[in-house]
Amino acid sequence: MKRAVSITVSLLLAVMLLVSAAGCSSAGDNASQSPAEEQIKIGIVQIVEHPSLNTIREAFIDHLAELGYKDGENIIIDYQNAQNDQTNLKTICQKFSNNRYDMIVAIATPSAQAAVGETKEIPVVFSACTDPVGSGLVDSLEKPGGNVTGTSDAVSAEQIMELAMRITPNVKTIGALYNSGETNSISVINDLKEYAAKNGLTVVEATVSNSSEVQQATASLAGKADAIFSPIDNTIASAMPVVAQVANQAKIPVYVGADSMVKDGGLATCGINYVELGQETANIAAQILEGANPGDIPVKTMKDMQIYLNKTTADAIGVTIPEDVLNEAVEIFE
Ligand code: TRP
Repeated sequence: MKRAVSITVSLLLAVMLLVSAAGCSSAGDNASQSPAEEQIKIGIVQIVEHPSLNTIREAFIDHLAELGYKDGENIIIDYQNAQNDQTNLKTICQKFSNNRYDMIVAIATPSAQAAVGETKEIPVVFSACTDPVGSGLVDSLEKPGGNVTGTSDAVSAEQIMELAMRITPNVKTIGALYNSGETNSISVINDLKEYAAKNGLTVVEATVSNSSEVQQATASLAGKADAIFSPIDNTIASAMPVVAQVANQAKIPVYVGADSMVKDGGLATCGINYVELGQETANIAAQILEGANPGDIPVKTMKDMQIYLNKTTADAIGVTIPEDVLNEAVEIFE
């Protein structure tokens, strides 16, 4: 279908060139088939507003423009936010599908699951899905199949825990804080449990189903856990300032899955760069707009893990971050 659109656009351009070469500069009869009808429509669906997802979306839009697809010029971007509500997600994706948009870009796993549920035809490009296979989005990372592909922000619970043990080596009990309804969190928590079992640590869980439960769940870990571990969880990320406030008061270090969660008060992570991830998502979208079949494009995972630290949090809970860890960090938030 994309090819058909681009062939039509090319034909239209050729006709316009011929007409202007012939010295006819009036708007002419063709003006009724205005370019507005030819504009490619991209629907962006985002589960919730939190800094990391906003960063991804902005990087996606900017890079797509660099690749020649500019919002308001040759493409129209319709951005919708679901305010962390499943019903809204469904309504948004239904609208994109009924209006026959040319592409749906789904930011975070819940959005991607909703988009995939609504259409088997319109290309769905997901962004920042931690576990695309486990979340039922694609059959395999190498050969996704169907109308779906995208980028993954998978991180290693083991790497984050190794960092945690360098900063706070006396940790014995880890409090796992996450939304048990987010499939992106489950696989990381399973890896955390495996790491704990191998290293003689205990995991206690505090799960939530929405952001209003986060304060209570964090408080329940005070006195039980020596450290808190939170994966790349949308619900926890959107309530991260609350987590930090409760944990700092209890003087518990919080290790997280994403840089924005460190910026918002977590102590540390070993994670990916989300600007790059947004750009990679745009690269995939551009390939599809140029005619590639989504199912043939492998899911892009990010290889470079970087250390992010929060100095204000370290001071607040009385933790001294070792010099070598400080030197390795790409960013230290104040
Ligand atoms: N990985 C999350 C998902 O699969 C989305 C996400 C991206 C995220 N960046 C984040 C979640 C930062 C929390 C914090 O749904």
